[in-house]
Amino acid sequence: VKLAVFASGTGSNYDAIIQAINHGKLDAEVSLLVCDKPNAKVIDKARQNGTPTFAFDPKQYSKKEVFEAKIVDVLQEAKIEWIILAGYMRLIGHTLLQPFEGKMINIHPSLLPSFPGLDAIGQALETGVKVSGVTVHYVDAGMDTGNIIAQEVVYINDETTREELEQAIHKVEHKLYPETIQKLISRGESS
Ligand code: GRF
Repeated sequence: VKLAVFASGTGSNYDAIIQAINHGKLDAEVSLLVCDKPNAKVIDKARQNGTPTFAFDPKQYSKKEVFEAKIVDVLQEAKIEWIILAGYMRLIGHTLLQPFEGKMINIHPSLLPSFPGLDAIGQALETGVKVSGVTVHYVDAGMDTGNIIAQEVVYINDETTREELEQAIHKVEHKLYPETIQKLISRGESS
């Protein structure tokens, strides 16, 4: 099963997916990395792993429809079956969503529908909730609003620092995302 990972940041979730594949826990290949920040760290990681990369600067395009149409071309050329968003900090528009609806998922560092959008970890700490976590969900046109596929809890106490919560959430993400992808793709193959 051919996956495209979309990431704009450090790429620790991209890495976790590659590790799961290398350890035989995820029966897929990352055939493409899509990155909207040409200097992102994840691009170095992709180079080391030999993952073909489409990196682009949105400012070079007149509007979202134009770069999304280009992305769709690249995805179709690479015969991508699933899109895995992992820190791609952009709303997906109709041009990209329409051909991949139901085959595009995202991971978010809170228990949705709590704390959608930017800095979910900061939002949780600020609100003082004692339970947060990680959500994997289908992508729709909204901001972190698609149907929920999997969630896992992370506990917070009065002493929990931001760094500790980030670490705990990342640890859960790195396990939950590959596991959830494996479940989804094996379901697809048996139907
Ligand atoms: C993760 O926390 C994910 O939940 C959010 O963006 C972050 C990406 O981190 N959508 P990384 O680049 O995979 O380390």
